[in-house]
Amino acid sequence: MKKYVWQAEGGAPVDDAIMEFLAGEDVVLDRELFPFDIRATAAHVSGLHRIGVLDESESDRLVQLLEELAEAFDSGRFVLDDRYEDGHSAIEMFLTEKAGEIGAKVHTGRSRNDQVAVATRLYLKHQLGRLVRVNGRIAASCLAKAERHAAVPMPGYTHLQRAVPSSVGLWMAGFAEAFTDDLMLALNVLDLVDCSPLGTAAGYGVNLPLDRDGVASELGFGRLQVNPMYAQNSRGKYEILALQAALHAMQDLRRLAWDLSLFTTAEFDFLVLPREYTTGSSIMPNKANPDVVELLRARAATTAAAADEIQALLSLPSGYQRDLQLTKPPLIRGLGAALQALAIVPGLVDGLGFNEERMRQAISADMFATDVALERAARGVPFRTAYADAKIELQDLAEPDPAASLAQRVSPGACGDLLLDRIRLRLQQELERAEQATEKST
Ligand code: ARG
Repeated sequence: MKKYVWQAEGGAPVDDAIMEFLAGEDVVLDRELFPFDIRATAAHVSGLHRIGVLDESESDRLVQLLEELAEAFDSGRFVLDDRYEDGHSAIEMFLTEKAGEIGAKVHTGRSRNDQVAVATRLYLKHQLGRLVRVNGRIAASCLAKAERHAAVPMPGYTHLQRAVPSSVGLWMAGFAEAFTDDLMLALNVLDLVDCSPLGTAAGYGVNLPLDRDGVASELGFGRLQVNPMYAQNSRGKYEILALQAALHAMQDLRRLAWDLSLFTTAEFDFLVLPREYTTGSSIMPNKANPDVVELLRARAATTAAAADEIQALLSLPSGYQRDLQLTKPPLIRGLGAALQALAIVPGLVDGLGFNEERMRQAISADMFATDVALERAARGVPFRTAYADAKIELQDLAEPDPAASLAQRVSPGACGDLLLDRIRLRLQQELERAEQATEKST
């Protein structure tokens, strides 16, 4: 029979159906948090030793058992399943089973409320670190493509109608800059959530001089989350921030995926996807479908829905409420889906092929009308007059020379002056900041 840490010896029996409802998929989700929970428990144990609640041998024994548990969980010898109410109880039960009374001391001065908060916080930091790095890799791949094909002409569209000549360099550099922003956003959220809620117990602190600062720095946190009640009230809020950071990357990915699915149609035929990113049709032998790109486009919905689900839960009074348990499924699902999708994007971008001839053919003479109007305006003709004249002369515009037009487009950031070095510099600076941040926290 399942045992509960809070159940008194000989107390009233629990109702299995009700317990099942309470726990839900909690214990399975806690597998994601378990290694972080174990780490935080070891830090809590050392903290208890520093204030004299545990003596050295007790502390050593518990830390050693926690290391064993981490290894056993890692190798699959310890399975976190529905024998336990949740991961937190599993840790305490394991320690008590192995070390008796010493194990029974581990929960001194803490509650499952700050225990789940700290485990989730460490998990958030871990996933945000991954988000930062994958955004960096995508930005680097887009930038390399932009540099390599900087001057390759490509039509520029507005309203999906031919507008002005553009280039692969401009198109790809846009995504390099976007994913650099996404990296920066993830890093800023990482910085914000980098605070330890451990040692706040149920949300009101305890009558022990807990070494909260020491425990926080042992766990690699940048600072303390000072107020015990806010440690609980921020649950869900920080999860939404992390999901939103992931969502912005997913929205940029959705736009890129849209472009890819459009530009690889026979009608456009500008791009060729790497073979491993296409699939065949079960009935039509002629097809190579862009299923991967389509699923990358669709994936943003999972992350957006996860953020919305948590938002919907957070209509709560102050303090811990069991409602907060339901922040875990969307958090884990939403971040997991985003990270899985983003991880395959660098290879996709690296392997993109360009059909330069088709892109050049799609740049029609009318697309040079803006150039013509602006050339005249630069010579002193009022722009509105030059615009009207160019419109009349649209039919008679000379045979276009995309390369010359691109070279003349010298407004900073445009095809004639892409400023790729500036985009690269910012990417490098953000990557360095990311490295320092992750160094600090491990
Ligand atoms: N599974 C719970 C959660 O995620 C753990 C904390 C339980 N705390 C409590 N007081 N019942 O919120």
